[in-house]
Amino acid sequence: MGLFDTFKRDRKTHTTLNQKEESAPSDADAPNVLVADDTAEVAAAAAEASATEAPASAPEADSERSTAPAEAEEAPREASDSEEPEEEPAEPGYRPIKTMDQKKPVTHVIGQTKIIAIINQKGGVGKSTTAVNLSAALGCNDKQVLLVDLDPQGNATSGLGIDKSQIHRDVYDVLLSDTPVHEAIIPDVCKGLDLLPATINLAGAEVELVNEIARENRLKSEISQLRGKYDYIFIDCPPSLGLLTINALVAADKLLIPIQCEFYALEGVTKLLDSMKRVKSLLNPTLDIFGVLLTMYDSRTTLSKQVAEEVRRFFGKSVFDTMIPRTVKLSEAPSYGQPITEYDPSGKGGQAYFSLAKEVISRG
Ligand SMILES: Nc1ncnc2c1ncn2[C@@H]1O[C@H](COP(=O)(O)OP(=O)(O)OP(=O)(O)O)[C@@H](O)[C@H]1O
Ligand SMILES: [Mg+2]
Repeated sequence: MGLFDTFKRDRKTHTTLNQKEESAPSDADAPNVLVADDTAEVAAAAAEASATEAPASAPEADSERSTAPAEAEEAPREASDSEEPEEEPAEPGYRPIKTMDQKKPVTHVIGQTKIIAIINQKGGVGKSTTAVNLSAALGCNDKQVLLVDLDPQGNATSGLGIDKSQIHRDVYDVLLSDTPVHEAIIPDVCKGLDLLPATINLAGAEVELVNEIARENRLKSEISQLRGKYDYIFIDCPPSLGLLTINALVAADKLLIPIQCEFYALEGVTKLLDSMKRVKSLLNPTLDIFGVLLTMYDSRTTLSKQVAEEVRRFFGKSVFDTMIPRTVKLSEAPSYGQPITEYDPSGKGGQAYFSLAKEVISRG
């Protein structure tokens, strides 16, 4: 299949998703890893395509939009009735972008805020997948959560169904201009979950931060003021140990390190731990590991089992009992702009993130 075909398939998928309530996902997971990998690529491409391409380039969505005024009267009433009337209209397939003054009141008492960076400079290990799905699962457990997307790829932002082209203020503006953090937060993207989004603007931040005063402390000074407003603040880090990641290490109380169950799983972990120690000794004395999470675990392969054993030997009790299985549903969900708690809550991926949320809560 060529690249063009892939994108055609992505758009089709995404347009189908626009009527997401109509088609409940099936429970069956991919029978083998090859299928999961293929879908993962498609999902990543779909998320990117949906965020960066002009609406006119999506044939089906386009036809919906261009004919909308003319066909509005002809459209069956049930179709419009099925949409949520109280929410602002958003682009089809995307969530409405609200402002903080539209945030639903929080009814529970917020505990001591924990700021946790989801970090591993190795790419593609499941950081964003964990950031989105763990945050959403905690939201479903009546916790109040903020997810900070600190990756210029903005995968957590698009994975939660936010149209990046409609974002006026993002984490870049908070870090590098005087935008107050609450002006950039998008509230209630899911139950209990607010998002500080990222767009490609953030790509310039690594370079621009170099010349700033207190460049390592930028994120900390912004999100510290949110203590007391959330039970958890998660930071989805980029796959590097650059200034953005250093900002996360300085801002965080603890680290959650996802490790993919594959060959070379522990490659680079020593470097990450060195960075953690350096930041701990110079800038953030209480920084520590909150937990290590085994991701994309495939119980059918000996390799997964061996990696899991090796990681447990290396990190001991820090490793969560919950392992995130490799499942196609987890790789599909971002292209639908949904966390797994909405897309397939009862499948094994959804159950794993609910179980992880319980462990996170029990770790205090
Ligand atoms: N448990 C899983 N089962 C199947 N696919 C998964 C799983 N977790 C993540 N993926 C897929 O693997 C790819 C990488 O995951 P993800 O984007 O979460 O990693 P990342 O560490 O955030 O990557 P990056 O370093 O580029 O930010 C994505 O396409 C995602 O959908
Ligand atoms: Mg990521």
